Amino acid sequence: MKNTDTTIAKEEMQGQSNCRTGKFYEDVICGLSSSPKFLSSMYFYDAVGDKLFQDLMACDEYYPTNCELEIFSEKTAEICEAIMGDGDAFDLIELGAGDASKSTYLLKYLLEKGADFSYLPIDISSNTISYLNITLPVTLPNLQMTGLNGEYFDMLKKASVISNKRKVVMFLGSNIGNMPLDVATQFCADVRSHLSAGDMMLIGVDLKKNPATVLAAYNDKEGITKRFNLNMLERINRELGGDFDVSQFEHYPTYDPETGACKSYLISLRDQTVSIQGKSIFFAKDEYIFMEISQKFTVAEIDNMALTASFKPAVHFFDSKHWFTDAIWVAA
Ligand code: AVJ
Repeated sequence: MKNTDTTIAKEEMQGQSNCRTGKFYEDVICGLSSSPKFLSSMYFYDAVGDKLFQDLMACDEYYPTNCELEIFSEKTAEICEAIMGDGDAFDLIELGAGDASKSTYLLKYLLEKGADFSYLPIDISSNTISYLNITLPVTLPNLQMTGLNGEYFDMLKKASVISNKRKVVMFLGSNIGNMPLDVATQFCADVRSHLSAGDMMLIGVDLKKNPATVLAAYNDKEGITKRFNLNMLERINRELGGDFDVSQFEHYPTYDPETGACKSYLISLRDQTVSIQGKSIFFAKDEYIFMEISQKFTVAEIDNMALTASFKPAVHFFDSKHWFTDAIWVAA
């Protein structure tokens, strides 16, 4: 089962190249044949990667999940009042719902207040959707819900066919940070194009902060992030018959406080050739594979992104340390 933060739909991650979307194999070969080499961060989350990400969320250094959970548990009423608006019926849509642990705070409160709404979790993992379809009716018996299994924009279209109610779209966990800024802005504009004026977006974003704090979150002492990163190579070995010697690649995390770009790489420790289903790929000593961006923002940058995507930033909720924000945007 996937956790809340883990699911990224395929189309979001394509900002890194012109590679065709599609199968794991094609994307891997395309990324590793490019110069510089890259792999797409959506492929971190196989069963092993899901587990490693769970461990990561429980480690001391990885703060974003705890910060957002604090916001959802401490500011439940304020968030709900904001999304309930005038009290008219609405659909609460969640992109990448995972285990819905954060949204459950809102769902409970909304049910208690007798809000007229349906919950539409969207996830690319069919496991996740069947898990939610089974568990949520038990924990929240009065919840009206329809789980949607598929890619974000296909499912957003489906949601607008299912009902013409007002929409509130949640995109949590700073998943927006996994896209380069221009791609992220386009993604928000694409969400906006599926909405009507007055609809809302509730987006969770990790903020710029002490660079040492950010870097530590992607370079934990226990080495979970390192294993998370290397697991992608192991996944290529498992699923695509690759022969990566992962001991010959090193996790290299970076954070640039100027741009807010937190990037991770794998560095080849020697000249080596890896074969994947008969296809040979050469890595020079010290060559890097770009693995992931986890972009950090200022509040002003988030507001700008909203405005560029034709939303009006309405409210910001913060954790007590001001390390993370959940913002509510209204479709202009
Ligand atoms: C799930 C994409 C929000 O970028 O912080 C955690 C993934 N990568 N540590 C993030 C991740 C390395 C995470 N997101």
